[in-house]
Amino acid sequence: MKGIILSGGLGTRLLPLTKITSKQLLPIYNRPMIYYPLNTLAKAGIKEILIIVSPDRAGDYLNLLGSGKQWGLKFTYEIQDKPAGLPQAFVIGENFIGKEDVVMILGDNIFEDDLSEEIKSFKGGAKLFAKKVPDPERFGVVKFDANFKAEKIVEKPKEFLSDYALTGLYVYDNRVIEVAKNCKPSARGEFEITDLHNWYLEHNEVEIAVVEGEWLDAGTFESLYKAQTLAKEKLDSKMVI
Ligand code: TTP
Repeated sequence: MKGIILSGGLGTRLLPLTKITSKQLLPIYNRPMIYYPLNTLAKAGIKEILIIVSPDRAGDYLNLLGSGKQWGLKFTYEIQDKPAGLPQAFVIGENFIGKEDVVMILGDNIFEDDLSEEIKSFKGGAKLFAKKVPDPERFGVVKFDANFKAEKIVEKPKEFLSDYALTGLYVYDNRVIEVAKNCKPSARGEFEITDLHNWYLEHNEVEIAVVEGEWLDAGTFESLYKAQTLAKEKLDSKMVI
């Protein structure tokens, strides 16, 4: 299985911190933010990792992370010219992914849990990771049926649908490349990851793993602040990166 870290974006909610650097290079306790999603992939035994970055920060990522050899990993870099949406990762990454399955994690997502077994046990279709949250309207949300099977996935629902937010960790089989290529921009002009999920949902091939431990997308001042504590108190001693 190949890995992708999507680490472009503008980070506008963290201005002025992100005026001269990328959000995912900001410090979280004693490491740059991207080390945490990198750690999630490395722990799961993913060795070949594509890091997608914005054009103006590419040099900084290369300086920081290099080839990956120092951790027994192999990094490839690609540029995303504009942050036009998460599905673009699979179009940009087409050659890198080749014929394999792929796990993607967003560069600002920090998980307390070791999700290695859930990633390794992927068999096909789409495996998504959901977390019960108090503010589901901020996220893509998954509704379960009576057997706790995914029934419906909606991006930032206006009306309450479920407490379960989809986190920024996704495993797909190789068909995701074609599905992403056929994606059309939404009303807000972005390609939406929910469209990929719904394609797999229509084929009845979505599996959801529930995340029990803490999960943060460190994209706001509040979550960035919380991430410092999580990293210091719970993650530092367990990192392999
Ligand atoms: P967001 O937090 O939605 O966007 P952002 O990082 O640009 O921040 P802001 O909303 O404050 O301007 O993105 C989530 C993660 O995905 C983040 O790590 C950046 C990454 N991303 C890309 O690399 N490319 C994209 O096209 C998008 C939409 C996000």
